Amino acid sequence: LLLPEKLVRQAFVRASRADTTVARAPASGIPELQAWFAAELARLTPASVSAPTAHDVIVLPGSQNGLSAAFRALVGPGQPIVMESPTYWGAIMAAEHAGVPVVPVATGPDGPDLDALDRALTLSNARAFYAQPNFSNPTGGQWGPERASEVLALVQKHGAFLIEDDWAHDFGIDGDSTPLAAHDEDGHVVYLRSLTKSVSPAVRVAGVVARGPARDRLLAATQAEFMYVSSALQSIAHDVVTQPAWRTHGRAVRQQLTARRDTLVAALATHIPGAQVDRPRGGLNTWVRLPDGTDLPRLVRDCELLGVMVAPGDEWFPAEPTGPFLRLNYSGPRPEDFDAGAERIGQALADQNL
Ligand SMILES: Cc1ncc(COP(=O)(O)O)c(C=O)c1O
Repeated sequence: LLLPEKLVRQAFVRASRADTTVARAPASGIPELQAWFAAELARLTPASVSAPTAHDVIVLPGSQNGLSAAFRALVGPGQPIVMESPTYWGAIMAAEHAGVPVVPVATGPDGPDLDALDRALTLSNARAFYAQPNFSNPTGGQWGPERASEVLALVQKHGAFLIEDDWAHDFGIDGDSTPLAAHDEDGHVVYLRSLTKSVSPAVRVAGVVARGPARDRLLAATQAEFMYVSSALQSIAHDVVTQPAWRTHGRAVRQQLTARRDTLVAALATHIPGAQVDRPRGGLNTWVRLPDGTDLPRLVRDCELLGVMVAPGDEWFPAEPTGPFLRLNYSGPRPEDFDAGAERIGQALADQNL
């Protein structure tokens, strides 16, 4: 229900008949998909800001590749990057692989503390700040417009890039994603948008929007890493997102996610009274703070024995975790089991006699 399977299958069939599917794609992507990614951001860009064009877009085989390319090309080995803490573990891993040390800045559902971000950028002299302003993985938070423009101003003041990961653009629940990149006047934002989770994990395509020299450096990096993305997969992704049924599907996904989030949050409140549960505004997961003193590895093991797979929050911290957290995904199969799952987590926690 959360994936547009029918649309994807139909797009595969259409692609099998098209001549363009068997051609080699340009390094920056097929023009129609570049134009689509640019138009999606342009739609949200106020008239006072110059809107991105197809030329500013590079199509990627997944945004994970975009993170690696951006860290290598715009930061560089040995140079630091500032990241929210907690943040996406894959970004922490990509930085490690690129030889880029991570400077953490504490963040919450409303975004990072501005003074702490200012200090981190000043002291580290970092060239970039990686962040998820909308529906962050793991917290599900969303920065308000004021915080967003303050962060943008700070990044500009420091002459740094904001590497904005809009991975959950298609998974808004209480509202839509509002990318900071839409307010970027002078090329300080490098914007990543993934279609992996919203179109299909089998059609793994993402786009990065960057301006001027940043775009050129990124293109050099992506060519060195993967040359170009299969034109067949690009055509299929473009076909799916330009069908009228894509919008209908998006509305159904929002309803589904709303129901699933609400069920899970209610179940956690009932069965784990000592936990502090963030109510995500979008995305696919809840972020749960457990009572201090929780033995997290033991809890994860005990939950598994009870048939419930949970992700320990420690993996989302680039530095010392600030407490025992769980990240619970509500996009998987059998939402009717969420209540029983929460009950078992509560049981496993009660066994710790905290
Ligand atoms: C926050 C975030 N960014 C990026 C990615 C990478 O996604 P993909 O490479 O499939 O586009 C993920 C995947 O889980 C993610 O959660």
